[in-house]
Amino acid sequence: MERDIKKIISEMTLEEKAGMCSGEDFWHLKKVERLGIPAVMVSDGPHGLRKQPDEADHLGIGESIVAVCFPAACATASSFDTELMNEMGKTLGEECQAEDLSVLLGPAVNIKRSPLCGRNFEYLSEDPYLAGKMAASYINGVQSWDVGTSIKHYAANNQEYNRMSCSSNLSERTFREIYLPAFETAVKEAQPKTVMCSYNKINGTYASENRHLLTEILRDEWGFEGYVMTDWGAVADRVKGIVAGLDLEMPGSGGFNDAKIVAAVKDGSLDEALLDKAVENILKVVFSYVDHRHPEAVFDRDADHGKATDIETECAVLLENNGVLPLKAGMKVAYIGEYAQKPRYQGGGSSHINASRVSSALDSAKEKGREVAYVKGFPADRDEEDAGELAAAVQAAKEAEAAVIFAGLPDVIESEGYDRKDMKLPACQNRMIEEVAKVQPNTIVVLHNGSPIEAPWAGQVAAVLEMYLGGQGVGEAADRLLYGEANPSGHLAETFPLRLEDNPSYLNFPGDGANVNYAEGVYVGYRYYDAKKMPVRWAFGHGLSYTTFAYSNLKMPEGALGDTGSVKVSVDVKNTGSVEGKEAVQLYVSDRNGTAGRPVKELKGFAKVGLKPGETKTVEFTLTARDLSFYHEGLGDWYAPAGTYGILIGGASDRIAVEGELLFRTEKLPPLYVDGATTLGELLAHPVTAPMMEPVVKGMQEKMGGMQGEDAEKTADALGTGAEMMEAMMKGMPLKSLSSFAGPEVAGQMEQLVQAMNRALGNA
Ligand code: BGC
Repeated sequence: MERDIKKIISEMTLEEKAGMCSGEDFWHLKKVERLGIPAVMVSDGPHGLRKQPDEADHLGIGESIVAVCFPAACATASSFDTELMNEMGKTLGEECQAEDLSVLLGPAVNIKRSPLCGRNFEYLSEDPYLAGKMAASYINGVQSWDVGTSIKHYAANNQEYNRMSCSSNLSERTFREIYLPAFETAVKEAQPKTVMCSYNKINGTYASENRHLLTEILRDEWGFEGYVMTDWGAVADRVKGIVAGLDLEMPGSGGFNDAKIVAAVKDGSLDEALLDKAVENILKVVFSYVDHRHPEAVFDRDADHGKATDIETECAVLLENNGVLPLKAGMKVAYIGEYAQKPRYQGGGSSHINASRVSSALDSAKEKGREVAYVKGFPADRDEEDAGELAAAVQAAKEAEAAVIFAGLPDVIESEGYDRKDMKLPACQNRMIEEVAKVQPNTIVVLHNGSPIEAPWAGQVAAVLEMYLGGQGVGEAADRLLYGEANPSGHLAETFPLRLEDNPSYLNFPGDGANVNYAEGVYVGYRYYDAKKMPVRWAFGHGLSYTTFAYSNLKMPEGALGDTGSVKVSVDVKNTGSVEGKEAVQLYVSDRNGTAGRPVKELKGFAKVGLKPGETKTVEFTLTARDLSFYHEGLGDWYAPAGTYGILIGGASDRIAVEGELLFRTEKLPPLYVDGATTLGELLAHPVTAPMMEPVVKGMQEKMGGMQGEDAEKTADALGTGAEMMEAMMKGMPLKSLSSFAGPEVAGQMEQLVQAMNRALGNA
């Protein structure tokens, strides 16, 4: 059905239009019955439905319908599997149709700047490329059911501390390279129906009234077509919001802010056309839902529980394994820790799901008749050591052939609303692991946590399996992986540093409450650890398998890549072990041109490949200029210097298997304005000014004969510096100093040359 939305708007009163731009209640938009506009409902998200039919809250406290809790984003990102993400999205989309929800509030794509952010469990990655691709797949899945998504929280909302008012201060380059691309990729590849702006300020301006963010970047540059809603209660100045490009205020202010919009239109301070545009953005999405209902949709909780379990099986990451895993059938095993019985499978806050059921590893073991003895050992909800439990666990471990400790973070440590204080597991759990490992060489740790923990015992245990917050099927998934019914194939979407203090944001997290300075710039996660050559516990992209993979036959393109177009790179991956398995093949790009201030390498491609024993598949990647580029603030654009780029492919950021080089040519020129402060080095590095400067430099070298003379060279050589020193001095010399060194003649010529260079650079 085609709706004439502009006509509908023309029939609305000013008050109705202002009203349309805020929620009726916590979860509904407003209706205008006489014009056939129904009150549609939105709901959290992202990894299940938190539909609240009655009383409402945004903290995950009140009742919501019985639903299915899928693995949280910390887990799903580790699958490195866009198809899996898409399937999960489709399942959620169907559930939404069955429950009459017009928009699912997710995915949440904020970058994991610090391991301490309380909401990291809901976020995808420390890497913007991975986060963007996974988010786009999820959105395409949900929206294939004509249900909207709300990608959140736009933008630079990377902590919970003072999230409603704090200003995230960062450079445009950092913003563009690290904190925006996940949104950008999702908008360009999946066109989410809505975007949720964050609470915080960005460089002093609230996201909800930030025109640069909501209009210039989101709509003008990326082509976003849906509506922007606030996070719950994120409005600062409502009228400024409309001007900036904020469409919908949620959950609404009982008419308080609507009245401000009406008054501003009446007194002429707000152009009514801007209000009309906001209403149009909202109604387009409302009707795209209303006019595409799917009566055939069902919410099959049992079937979806099965899907949640299968998805989690693909997400868990095998971090260590000396060969103890998979456990053999009939092996006598001790399960220790209350999480074996009561797994932690989701985080606290607005994403909290009223799960239809939860599978525990212990129940699965019982159902499958495994030889498992259980000792509680420590509680799931607090840090409390019990000497009796510790002794019983150690005894059970001694008597068994292997001990599996189900460890994790209690609910209270990890939630929306506040950040973690440290990166540690509860002390009682660390102690338990150490004591058990002393008596049982086959000690395995299974982790239930939403973000990295310090693992001081990593070298003392035989295996570590990271389940993350794996949704309601986590127990069954753990069972399958522990006993080899499934082969682990997750890879870390974030680095586990050795200790919190190693994290690049450590000295600037979470700021002073008013401001948080992203002083580490683009050096987030592995971009930092790589550059510092710093050992980490487990690197970005790391993940083991019960089989092994070999990489060969890297095929690089014949010619160079240019500003437009693309090139293909391919590699063969072979399963060299004896069981079927999946590898997360990762492609990183490395600038080899000595460009200052660039990370050692950055993820620019990945693919999850399933291989039978002995099987080989060719994996192909497509690269464009953007994949080689950094954000050049002077240019206000993406820029890659011409030259050579390393293409690094492997199964983890610290396990690069094959390497090639790609040549790049560009027509783009970095901007340069030549004046007295410009150095000879800058001029010689720029393709336009370099040829103009070469004769001057030659002449200058001759003039500076004394410094070029044999004696000077001898002295310099004696000092071990020689040519290097000369070159460095020359390159660092600003034009204003030329007369002191090169004499008045060269300086005189320079005046005309500066003008000529500025003309050639287009500055004149
Ligand atoms: C959260 C959002 C959530 C909203 C509605 C806010 O507190 O930040 O992620 O969608 O509440 O529950």
